[in-house]
Amino acid sequence: MSLPEVEPPLPSTAIRIVILISGSGSNLQALIDAQTKGQINTDIVAVISNRPDVKGLQRATDAGIENHCLNHKHYADRRSFDQALHLKIQQYQPDLVVLAGFMRILTPELTRQYVGKMINIHPSLLPKYQGLNTHQRAIDDSQVQHGCSIHFVTEELDGGPVIAQSLVPVLKDDDAQSLAQRVQQQEHFLYPQCVQWFGERRISLKTGKIYLDEEILPKSGRQF
Ligand code: GRF
Repeated sequence: MSLPEVEPPLPSTAIRIVILISGSGSNLQALIDAQTKGQINTDIVAVISNRPDVKGLQRATDAGIENHCLNHKHYADRRSFDQALHLKIQQYQPDLVVLAGFMRILTPELTRQYVGKMINIHPSLLPKYQGLNTHQRAIDDSQVQHGCSIHFVTEELDGGPVIAQSLVPVLKDDDAQSLAQRVQQQEHFLYPQCVQWFGERRISLKTGKIYLDEEILPKSGRQF
C-alpha cells in the first residue's frame, strides 16, 4: 500500500506530543527527562493509559502532565475504544503521537488518522520478532544481535517503516530478563533521539519512505 505524503509541522515552537502507555512508563520517563533537560524540542501535552493505576500515570502526574486512563475493559469492542481514544487524543491537537509500551492493537480506522504522525517502540530489530516475547525468541533462535526499533505506525502490527534501530549483542549467558534490561537501556536513548528529529523537523514520511534531512533512510532505519 502506498502511504500519503505527510509534511512535518513548521519549525517554530516545540512540537505537541501525546504519549500512550499501558504500564511502567520507563520510556515515558526518558522522554520527560529529555524534555526537562532541553534535549528535545517538545511539549508533552498529555499521557493516556488504557490501564488504570499504572506507574506511568504516576510519572506523568509527578511531572505535572495531564493524564487520563481510558480503560479498554469499559468499551464494548476494539472499535469503540479506538473511537474514544481518537477523541481524547484530538482534544490535544498533537503534532506527534508516541506509543511507549502501549499494549493494544489499534484498528486500521484509527491508525489511518495518524499516518506519519504516530510512532512506536518495539523491542526487536524489526522486521524480526513482531509481536510478543521478543527477547526469549531471539535467544531461542541463537541470535547474536538483538535490539530495539522505532517505527511509524501503520495498520500492520509492528510493521510500519523503521526510523531507527539500536543494536544490542546477545551474550552467552543472557536470559530474557538480562537481555530485556540491556535493550531497555538502549530504548531510553533511542526514543528521545528519534523524537528530537521530529522536534527539529528533520524527519518526514513521503510515499512510504522515511526522509531524515534530505536523505532516504534504508529499511532498517538509522542504526546505532
Ligand atoms: C518497552 O520494552 C517497549 O519496547 C515495549 O514495551 C516496553 C514498555 O516499557 N513496547 P515501559 O512501559 O516504557 O517501561
